[in-house]
Amino acid sequence: MNPTLSVKNLRVEIPTRRGVLTAIDDLSFDIAPGEVLGVVGESGAGKSITGSAIIGLLDPPGRIASGEIRLGKERIDNLPPSAMRRIRGNRIGMIFQDPLTSLNPLYRIGEQLTETILTHERMSAKAAWEKAERLLIEVGIPAAGTRLSSYPHQFSGGMRQRVVIALALAADPELVIADEPTTALDVSVQAQIISLLKRLCKDRGTSVMLITHDMGVIAETADRVCVLYAGRLAEIGAVRDVVKHAQHPYSLGLMAAIPSLSGNPDEKLEQIPGSMPRLGAIPEGCAFNPRCTYAFERCRMERPAVYPAGASRASCFLHDLAGGQMPPTETLRRAEADGILLTAPAGEGGR
Ligand SMILES: Nc1ncnc2c1ncn2[C@@H]1O[C@H](COP(=O)(O)OP(=O)(O)OP(=O)(O)O)[C@@H](O)[C@H]1O
Ligand code: SF4
Ligand SMILES: [Mg+2]
Repeated sequence: MNPTLSVKNLRVEIPTRRGVLTAIDDLSFDIAPGEVLGVVGESGAGKSITGSAIIGLLDPPGRIASGEIRLGKERIDNLPPSAMRRIRGNRIGMIFQDPLTSLNPLYRIGEQLTETILTHERMSAKAAWEKAERLLIEVGIPAAGTRLSSYPHQFSGGMRQRVVIALALAADPELVIADEPTTALDVSVQAQIISLLKRLCKDRGTSVMLITHDMGVIAETADRVCVLYAGRLAEIGAVRDVVKHAQHPYSLGLMAAIPSLSGNPDEKLEQIPGSMPRLGAIPEGCAFNPRCTYAFERCRMERPAVYPAGASRASCFLHDLAGGQMPPTETLRRAEADGILLTAPAGEGGR
């Protein structure tokens, strides 16, 4: 089956006075129909820029320098702004951290919902209003019929984000991109909003790209996860594989920082020492090498490709034992003890 979204070798550049910064570097991933892909990484990893590039809303002077983005079979990275505007809201629904980004303060939410419904489907204004009411009921807004006449500011934060979910789904899009959809909300409603989004998209077969820095949310929501580091792919694979058997040292570190999946409140969370590099200061070789406890000489000289790694794929030389300089034996032993599945170099008979 064709993927709903296919991103191939995406490169996003930001020209500045001091030179061109590369915000996204050779990023590829697919999202299958009905699949929830989590996109995770620390602040500055390039999660939002990836989302903005897909929907054609990169802040100038940011630009797609190379690569391809396809929605179904159609290439969408080179469309004129008017065509891209039709795709947004119609074929790709969007949910941002601040619900007010998506809502017009001057219009009643019934008007905003029906407008979106009518760009997609030919029906009477009355039928569109009824569909809007059904959507509000589905997202759990009490007294939906009367609430259609309310303005965005008349809703609480959590209710407003429910309205945004209704709006994102109003035109029955193939894909929803949700960028930190609960970060700005009260902790008590975050889980409800995430599970609502997940349930409604599953029911409709809508694919979801769920952007968050919270690996715990991904673990509970996504089918697959794409881990980004410094604008590059670190690891991509099924959530259960990456959570239990992360194959990239960076994702291994992120997993150690998930607030107890085991439910043990005394569990000590480990943070990865150091921080994500600024765009102008991405290290040579593997971008993660200054923070990586497995780094060896090759990591400082050469940039890793994406290799098959256990059940997932990872951009790390620990998974390229046949292809170049070998890591020190002690490093290999430690990696293996930490659950990284090493592939024996050709000719050594496997492990
Ligand atoms: N106009 C710009 N000029 C220079 N750098 C920029 C610009 N816009 C974004 N960046 C940089 O691009 C990188 C990626 O930004 P992005 O917003 O995609 O990160 P993110 O992963 O979404 O982080 P967060 O979790 O904080 O939302 C960051 O280092 C950011 O500082
Ligand atoms: S390539 Fe080297 S530095 Fe990068 S993650 Fe792998 S071991 Fe660490
Ligand atoms: Mg962001």
